[in-house]
Amino acid sequence: MRKAIIGGTGVYDIGDGSYSKTIETSYGKAEVNIVRVQGEEIVFLARHGVNHSVPPHLINYMANMMALKELGVKYVYATAAVGSCNENYAPGDIVVIKDFIDFTKQRPLTFFEGGNEPVKHVDMSDPYCKNLRQRFYEAARTESIHIKGDAVYVCTEGPRFETASEIKMYKRFGGDVVGMTSVPEVVLAKELGICYATVGIVTNWCTGMEETMTIDNMHELLSQNKEKITKVFLKVFIE
Ligand code: HPA
Repeated sequence: MRKAIIGGTGVYDIGDGSYSKTIETSYGKAEVNIVRVQGEEIVFLARHGVNHSVPPHLINYMANMMALKELGVKYVYATAAVGSCNENYAPGDIVVIKDFIDFTKQRPLTFFEGGNEPVKHVDMSDPYCKNLRQRFYEAARTESIHIKGDAVYVCTEGPRFETASEIKMYKRFGGDVVGMTSVPEVVLAKELGICYATVGIVTNWCTGMEETMTIDNMHELLSQNKEKITKVFLKVFIE
C-alpha cells in the first residue's frame, strides 16, 4: 500500500468498502482503515480517532507515521481544520499548506534520538512535498474546486485556542493559519522519507480577528469541504 490519507477534524472516513487494521509499532498502536478505490488499496487514518476522542497534544504521531511507513506508504495527503489570521483566507476556504512555524511545547518530535544511531538533522526547506502540492492544485482545477495557497501554518500546542495577543504575534511572524496537529506529523513524515502534504480547511477566524463562528457553521464547512478535498486526493492517487 503506497498511498495514505490522514483525516483531521471532520474527516473520519473516505468512503465505503473499508476494513480496519491495528498496526503495532515500537512506538505504540495505530488504527487504520484500508479502503479499496478502483482496485487500489489506500490507507486511511483518522488522526483524532474515528470518534474524535484524541486531543491534538495526545495523538501518538510517532506510532501513526511509523505504521504508515511499515505498511509501505510513500505518499500521504492530510487534512487539517485551521483558524485563519490572514484576511485573504476566510472560513470555508481550502488552503494548501506550504510551510510551518512550530509553537508546540511538549510533544515527542523525532525518530532520531542518537545513542547508537548517528545524529541526524532533517532538511526543512520544503517540509510539505512540492510534487503532491502541485498535483493537488492541478487536480482541483480540473474539478473546478477553488483552492487557495500557499499558507504558512502556525502549530500551537492546544488543546486551548489562542489568545488575541498570541494571534497578533503569529500574524506578525508571517503565519496565515493556525492549527494544532501539523507538527510533528510533517516532520516525522520527512524523517521517514514519506512525501507528505497537508490541505487546510479554514473553519473560523482566529481569536480577536472577527466575530466568532458558531460550532454549527464549523461542522457545515467541514462536511462540505471534506467531500471536495477527498475527491481531489483520490483523483491524484488513482490517476
Ligand atoms: N486555532 C487553533 N486550531 C484550530 C483553530 C484555531 O482557531 N481552528 C481550527 N483549529
